[in-house]
Amino acid sequence: MKRILTGIQPSGKLHWGNYFGAIRNMVDLQEKGEEMFMFIANFHAMTTVRDGATLRQATEDVVLDYLACGIDPAKTVLYRQSDLPEVQELAWYLSCLAPMGLLERCHSYKDKMAHGFDATHGLFAYPVLMAADILIMNADLVPVGKDQKQHLEVTRDLAQKFNNAYGETFKLPDAYIPERVATIPGTDGQKMSKSYRNTIELFEDAKSIKKKVMGIVTDSTPMEAPKEPEGNSIYELYKLFATPEEVAQMAANYRAGGYGYGHAKKELLAAYHRLFDPFRAKREELAKDVDYVRDVLSDGCRRARAAAAPMMEKVRKEVGL
Ligand code: ADP
Ligand code: TRP
Repeated sequence: MKRILTGIQPSGKLHWGNYFGAIRNMVDLQEKGEEMFMFIANFHAMTTVRDGATLRQATEDVVLDYLACGIDPAKTVLYRQSDLPEVQELAWYLSCLAPMGLLERCHSYKDKMAHGFDATHGLFAYPVLMAADILIMNADLVPVGKDQKQHLEVTRDLAQKFNNAYGETFKLPDAYIPERVATIPGTDGQKMSKSYRNTIELFEDAKSIKKKVMGIVTDSTPMEAPKEPEGNSIYELYKLFATPEEVAQMAANYRAGGYGYGHAKKELLAAYHRLFDPFRAKREELAKDVDYVRDVLSDGCRRARAAAAPMMEKVRKEVGL
């Protein structure tokens, strides 16, 4: 049995990239009976969110999003990162082994700088905390989007450094990135990301989703002309939602000509609703059941801490505490 773990930051509303990059892979793996851990990375979100009420609300929203999308708390330990404060302790031990140069090379930090975020120590040290999240559970596989691949490399590096210094302790985890979902394009064609304001949220109101889908940026090839589907954002997004037969049909329509981007957008929107309408209904129900959500989190906290305890005991002994 494999240990699988992932986390998503509650730094804004979850979007299609988050669903296909991380959540859906967790739901698939959960059904295979692996040992599953999924958390809301609220410590990480503090690198960009500076308001307590906003962070608290966003954290609650992500719990509902996970549950509505099919994360089953009976099969997956679902917890808030802050309910496992031991990760901060482990992050310190790893920090003491983390070369500055390794962190300086991280794209995500440079990217955040380029987007005008403050250069804080938290943002800089964030991959170390992420390594602690993963290593504390001795995870084998980490479902993430391609943008997180480098952080997995940092995690492996730090695990190796710890093992070299103190003896064999951590497994070296692998990123789990199915090719199909490596990087999901946003409405402007670049990577869909909260920081680029090009997202389509999972649960925003239907009108606004329609507006965004119809507004996806395309080239100006006229309706009558044949079009190449591969690499076209609408087609790439449709691939995520539709069956192989539906995808083949859309590709044929593109190539035949007489089929405009407007047609493709309508099909994409319909495909979104086919998949998401049941999730939307479930989310509405869950939002009313505050007690259930609170129970899921307190159970998750207990199970996550129990799972991390043997590793922390071993690590403390090794480092000399
Ligand atoms: P954002 O870039 O919007 O801030 P996060 O960094 O919080 O998103 O990502 C949370 C998870 O969703 C990570 O596993 C990340 O790799 C995945 N993810 C986010 N955007 C995409 C995307 N456009 N394509 C594939 N995966 C993505
Ligand atoms: N850094 C991840 C992101 O921004 C979130 C995250 C934090 C994470 N800790 C993790 C993902 C551990 C996987 C495993 O998307």
